[in-house]
Amino acid sequence: MKDRIEELLKEIETFAGSAEDHAEEFRLKYLSRKGQVSSLFDDFKNVPNELKRDVGQLLNKLKNRAQERWDELRSSSASTTNSAKFNFDPTLPVGGFLGSRHPLSLVRREIIEIFGRLGFTVAEGPEIEDDWHNFTALNFPEEHPARDMQDTFFIADKIALRTHTSSVQVRVLENTKPPVRMLMPGRVYRNEAISARAHCFFHQVEGLYVDKNVSFADLKQTLLYFSREMFGADTQIRLRPSYFPFTEPSAEMDISCTICSGKGCNVCKHSGWVEIMGCGMVDPAVLQNCGIDANVYSGFAFGMGIERITMLKYGVNDLRLFSENDVRFIGQFRSAL
Ligand code: PHE
Repeated sequence: MKDRIEELLKEIETFAGSAEDHAEEFRLKYLSRKGQVSSLFDDFKNVPNELKRDVGQLLNKLKNRAQERWDELRSSSASTTNSAKFNFDPTLPVGGFLGSRHPLSLVRREIIEIFGRLGFTVAEGPEIEDDWHNFTALNFPEEHPARDMQDTFFIADKIALRTHTSSVQVRVLENTKPPVRMLMPGRVYRNEAISARAHCFFHQVEGLYVDKNVSFADLKQTLLYFSREMFGADTQIRLRPSYFPFTEPSAEMDISCTICSGKGCNVCKHSGWVEIMGCGMVDPAVLQNCGIDANVYSGFAFGMGIERITMLKYGVNDLRLFSENDVRFIGQFRSAL
């Protein structure tokens, strides 16, 4: 009997169950009413009296050790079931729902891809911007209304959330020797009440081309190419004179309405045209502010809202849809890009 107890003492140390619940398997095998330790206790009454003391001590040792092992197994199996719960398996099949890119990401990628064919590369700048990059270097007069607290979210003295991506033009020009052909996508902020047509943050893509002999004709042809690639080969563009402190001359560009093809509808307010961006020739003062010789170099710049392009391309009529992240809306967009 002593040999049998010694054997079991060894066995329980190395116990490795095969069932899912090791602790329960261990309990059934050794500790339950019909288990091996219990049956040794039953046999104990047959042990000759003179051996009872020795065998009894050993048997108690086995029983205590088996109890301890059971406790150990129970706590380790609890921790494996816990970790299994947090063990995320990304290879499992999804239950019918495939993720999709956000429509603004799709359109941003498409814009970058179209201008990429013309040799434009991508640059980014910070969303928290200083007065120099957002306003002063861009030729904004000290009293310009765009600097006003009503439009701009100021964070500290002369530090604000950028109100446009034109700030990145300055950063690029300060750090790059022309020729420069850059596209600068990013989020911008303006202190506006949120509605179907306005939001306190939105996204822009800025374009900048600086080299020797860049002309307004280059700007116009570049924008025509973009508009037709983005909205279809029949798209017409028109440039209306406008004003921006950092471009001269400046223009606003309209495309023929994508909804009614120029016939007149609610979206184009029955004019047949919808505005999609501001643009112009980079003001020589901006080039000089960035350390570029304006007698040698000229350039054009443009800036468009990604939300606006997306609304016209996909017929979305409420700006708020882009930031509410309702999967019923954002799940409708599919693209190869
Ligand atoms: N930054 C201007 C805006 O936010 C757009 C623009 C960019 C105009 C570049 C001209 C040139 O309205």
